[in-house]
Amino acid sequence: MKIQSIRGVKDILPDEIWKWQHIESIAHKIFTRYGFKEIRLPIFEDTRLFSRSIGETTDIVEKEMYTFEDRGGDSITLRPEGTASVVRAYVEHKMHTPPSILKMFYIGPMFRYERPQAGRLRQFNQIGVEAMGSSSAIVDVEVMTMLIEFFNELGLSNIELQINSLGNQDCRPHYRELLKTEIEKYLEKLCSNCSSRYKRNPLRVLDCKLEQCSDISKRLPKLIDHLDPTSAKHFSEVRFLLDSAGTPYSVNPNLVRGLDYYNNTAFEVTSQNLGAQNAICGGGRYDTLVEELEGPSTPCFGFALGLERLVSLVPFENKKTLQKRPDVFIVCLGDEAKIVASKVAHDIRLKGLWVERDYELGSMKSQMRKANKTGCRLTLILGEDEIQNGKYILKNMENGNQIEFPAQELISEIAKLSDSP
Ligand code: HAM
Repeated sequence: MKIQSIRGVKDILPDEIWKWQHIESIAHKIFTRYGFKEIRLPIFEDTRLFSRSIGETTDIVEKEMYTFEDRGGDSITLRPEGTASVVRAYVEHKMHTPPSILKMFYIGPMFRYERPQAGRLRQFNQIGVEAMGSSSAIVDVEVMTMLIEFFNELGLSNIELQINSLGNQDCRPHYRELLKTEIEKYLEKLCSNCSSRYKRNPLRVLDCKLEQCSDISKRLPKLIDHLDPTSAKHFSEVRFLLDSAGTPYSVNPNLVRGLDYYNNTAFEVTSQNLGAQNAICGGGRYDTLVEELEGPSTPCFGFALGLERLVSLVPFENKKTLQKRPDVFIVCLGDEAKIVASKVAHDIRLKGLWVERDYELGSMKSQMRKANKTGCRLTLILGEDEIQNGKYILKNMENGNQIEFPAQELISEIAKLSDSP
């Protein structure tokens, strides 16, 4: 039986990796301007890290984690997200350095046992950023603005930034009770998932995508109408600063996020060009998580975006030139030329150029066809005559021009031609 990749898991093939590399290089460039440094984290952790941080009653912890016992009997989980690991590393390596803020980003695979569909995978990749050590609304807005700048640089259109406030410990518990009481009035109309979990996690009813629940959630009380003064002040500062920065957004009072660690600002960026799974990015403030994982009090703000969804949205047709192609293809005929070709290829590669050749040594015509197919800029022709005369031929594949020159001038000729537009 032929073995295939697992459902919900995708290969990223060599012909499309340039798109990923392009996005990642723009992320490096823009995030660095804002002071973020990369952190590389393990892809598996102690299971308790995720159940304690993401929340016992979340979908992720209840039914989506890849959890297994390793050979030593420890419970291990493939990370379903990156924030918990960043916080674990922050506490473990004592990265707390007040008064300065620590800014980190990460890129890598995450694992969730969800029902695969368009835009929803079981292994997917995220770029995430976490700013740790400030509760200022300036941080919320700077990080969201950085994200929008990143999306703009990639040429994304039709995206929408939605924000909400999830309040804090002074107002959320009261609101939860109020919400539960209100939900009870509509219990028989809710989907089975919402009616069974509303007691444990009533906020999730607010963002249930099923029509029967979204109709009801419109009638339920909104947390932004029940914020305590501190949370209300934070939210109005965020809105004021977004307005001042000219960053378009809308307030979505039903946005609650699927992870429990958030307080105050929560946000998502959605795209009309994605299907049902329309969130490209989600994040927000999580001021108590570091303490919950036994670190010092450290207010934080961050986000993560789904790379598969982002790759599907970037208009790459304008960026075809980014795809790398060989600098030189060597066409050679005859036994002596074959040996010379290996030496010449080595010399050119030492100059930092990408050299390809025909390993099968077919006819001149078939080698030229292969050269063409690679899209190379230059073709170096080494026939028997060329070797005999000590003169090589270089063909510029873009304009068809050909030059002949002494063998010893090869490197300088190639440098001239490959620099010219
Ligand atoms: P999240 O909303 O669970 O947040 O995931 C962030 C993004 O990852 C989503 O908006 C989506 O684009 C992508 N994503 C999630 N699940 C899948 C999937 N099954 N298939 C494809 N893409 C997916 C977090 O993970 C938080 N850690 C974000 C954060 C960072 N909050 C603060 N800091």
